Amino acid sequence: MQSSLFRKEVLPFLLWFGALIAGAVAVDALLHALDLIWVGRYLGIPGTLLILFSFGYSMRKRKLIRSGNPRTLLRLHETFTWVGALMILIHAGVHVYAILPWLALAAMMVNIISGMTGKVLLERSRRYLAEKRASYEAQGLAAEEIERRLFWDATAFDLMKRWRGIHLPITLAFAVLGLAHIFTIFLFWQWS
Ligand code: HEM
Repeated sequence: MQSSLFRKEVLPFLLWFGALIAGAVAVDALLHALDLIWVGRYLGIPGTLLILFSFGYSMRKRKLIRSGNPRTLLRLHETFTWVGALMILIHAGVHVYAILPWLALAAMMVNIISGMTGKVLLERSRRYLAEKRASYEAQGLAAEEIERRLFWDATAFDLMKRWRGIHLPITLAFAVLGLAHIFTIFLFWQWS
């Protein structure tokens, strides 16, 4: 039981997070070795765009857009934020001088960790409901009764709701710091 919990929940989390850090360090080292440090500096832009595109899921969920399979959009949200964070980490690895960018980076990393935690919780609640459904079906309950019970089981699993109460403010903090960082870059941009 405990080893399966580790395998299904803790291990994927550690692997994805570890891959993010290792990937950023490896690409950064490669760019330095190839004398392509300028590439890293510009990776901040596609990274930010990918994170912005990832909000397609949120827009679909909140009915700001009507098309797109929510499941696919959530997968894209997870992938785009991961790849976007990788690019931003490489971009930040290429020397940051001020405090604000570091704060924005820290907020992003907290956001990534919180997102990965949410993914684990979501998968756990899905598994929990699937097990419940199977057990009701095995008991031979009518379809309507099964749906009624599953509804209450789902509300019992309110960990996701509580998690959202953390993930959203973290996103806001990241957005404010990220925007402030971008704003100061334009402020001090040397146009000539
Ligand atoms: C820059 C990093 C990230 C930002 C800014 C971000 C932002 C958000 C926001 C705003 C939502 C709420 C959607 C809504 O209710 O409208 C959300 C939900 C979610 N995010 Fe992230 N996220 C980030 C990274 C991640 C990562 C790395 C993962 C997983 C690998 C992830 C997984 C999820 C999941 C599972 C949900 C919940 C879906 C739901 O409850 O409907 N997020 N994220």
